[in-house]
Amino acid sequence: MPTVIPTGGALGAEIKNLDLSQLLSGDAIRTVQQALLDHCVVFFRNQTLTEENQIRFTNYFGQTVEHVRKQPDRQHKEIFIVSNIEENGAPIGALGNRELTFHSDLSYLKRPGTISVLYAIEVPRTGGETQWCNCYKAYEALDNDLKTRLKGLRAVHRHYNEDQNPPEHIDHPVVRTHPETGRQSLYVGRHLTKYIVGLPPSESEALLNQLSEHADRPEFVWTHHWQVGDLVMWDNRPTMHRREPFPPTERRLMKRTQVFNADDIPFE
Ligand code: OGA
Ligand code: MN
Repeated sequence: MPTVIPTGGALGAEIKNLDLSQLLSGDAIRTVQQALLDHCVVFFRNQTLTEENQIRFTNYFGQTVEHVRKQPDRQHKEIFIVSNIEENGAPIGALGNRELTFHSDLSYLKRPGTISVLYAIEVPRTGGETQWCNCYKAYEALDNDLKTRLKGLRAVHRHYNEDQNPPEHIDHPVVRTHPETGRQSLYVGRHLTKYIVGLPPSESEALLNQLSEHADRPEFVWTHHWQVGDLVMWDNRPTMHRREPFPPTERRLMKRTQVFNADDIPFE
């Protein structure tokens, strides 16, 4: 049976004794689901997975869908390549080697991604760590006045690649409630959140910066140091993540899958 070992940090748990290349039992799937609800991020080490294996695993947790960003034609459209590697002068994947600041995946869509999965094929010798913020804890630690001020506020999220955005500006609650745990969490990050609806621009900027500095505090953040064969799965609803840059001379190759739940529009 799988064993769930919490990291002891702000969030996250390692799940041992599960080979994700095999069909999983209902009990094993439920254990992973519960661990994800409890710890927001779960990871599995030393996995050897085909693309079919990764897609089948991801499908246990909802509908696996193609990423909105265009990528070269691949056999399995559900697999999105996150990599800085170039072949024949062209990148084979997205996101390069630069720093990525805190965001929740696909928050610029009306129905953002729920669960994301990254499987590590090649990792750099230095840099490229991914950090997750526990946005439940970040919200809960706000003082009551600020919690009251945030009530009912909504923020516009937009991708910096304009062609990934829907035509309309999408806004979501600044504080969202998780549909399964019922817990509230902060849902803004400086990478994709542009402004708070209805506030003067300077006030919106100041509030977003304040919330972002708050969420950045070490007690809310956990760092994953990648090894080849790691599969990390996270719930985007109560978390944000960022990535450290890494040297352009290093190779990093991740395969990513993504779950959407059609009925999951963020609610207050
Ligand atoms: C992503 C992402 C971080 C990383 O795929 O959504 O943010 O560590 N990746 O590559
Ligand atoms: Mn991301």
